[in-house]
Amino acid sequence: MSTSESSAVFAQNLFNLSGKVAIITGASKGIGEGIARIYAAFGAQVVLSSRKQEDLDALADEMQQQGADVAAIAAHTGDMNALKNLVEKTIERFGGIDILVNNAATNPVFGPSIDCPESAFDKIMQVNVKAPFELAKLCYPHMKLRGGGNVLNISSIAALTPDPGLGMYSVSKAALNMLTKVLAKEWGADGIRVNAICPGLIKTKFSEALWNNEQVLARFTKHLPIARMGTVDEIAGLALFLVSTASGYCTGGIYTADGGTTI
Ligand SMILES: NC(=O)c1ccc[n+]([C@@H]2O[C@H](COP(=O)([O-])OP(=O)(O)OC[C@H]3O[C@@H](n4cnc5c(N)ncnc54)[C@H](OP(=O)(O)O)[C@@H]3O)[C@@H](O)[C@H]2O)c1
Repeated sequence: MSTSESSAVFAQNLFNLSGKVAIITGASKGIGEGIARIYAAFGAQVVLSSRKQEDLDALADEMQQQGADVAAIAAHTGDMNALKNLVEKTIERFGGIDILVNNAATNPVFGPSIDCPESAFDKIMQVNVKAPFELAKLCYPHMKLRGGGNVLNISSIAALTPDPGLGMYSVSKAALNMLTKVLAKEWGADGIRVNAICPGLIKTKFSEALWNNEQVLARFTKHLPIARMGTVDEIAGLALFLVSTASGYCTGGIYTADGGTTI
């Protein structure tokens, strides 16, 4: 093998996920789907999870036809029994867990925080903070058995600067960032890395209210250094890096991918 061939192989191996099993919550669409597709393309066995089994089955069928090794296991992340079932079924199907992507999140209210009812606060905290923690705890012994692993939390730039109208969502994502750092510190010795991505405005169903009105979108993007919305693939690429060998020395990191919004 020539030097250039061997460096190409080395570079490809840096991102190779063959033999790795990844659970991705909120994988039926948007950013989670993008991450699922890129992990599968780089060789991982992927567990697609979200609330609607039929959406997951459709995506799994399509990905399998393209040669991916995937399983579709529905779970509402706010339901502890569903999370336990997700982990048990993953072990039954693939025999281990190496990667967890906590991507599912909720935002049931928009407006001043004074109007946020207790029930909405509890729901936001349950799905956006408690669920990633509980699922990470459930995956922890399995990652330890494999000699290490990766937890990747999909946070938001709302964690860094409060988003107008998204007060308690911002609070929940700030808590998720701190959870990332706490677990990174505690689990580093077990070979488990924990990182977070803070996306800016990415074109998905979740952010539709911000981009389906051209004037609102233009007001938002015109001051950005990269003056446009981001794409799912622009988050998925970073998500690949953060669970691959290429990022082996990164843990407890909070990585923005926001077109420069937070500069
Ligand atoms: N898009 C953005 O501009 C943006 C910006 C910053 C951060 N983010 C973050 O990026 C992540 C993904 O957002 P997205 O824009 O890709 O959203 P999306 O396109 O609306 O997709 C959300 C996914 O999560 C699933 N889901 C929702 N609630 C769930 C629950 N309780 N349990 C399990 N699955 C659930 C949905 O499927 P079902 O409905 O079938 O469950 C779907 O698969 C979120 O953490 C969000 O906070 C997004």
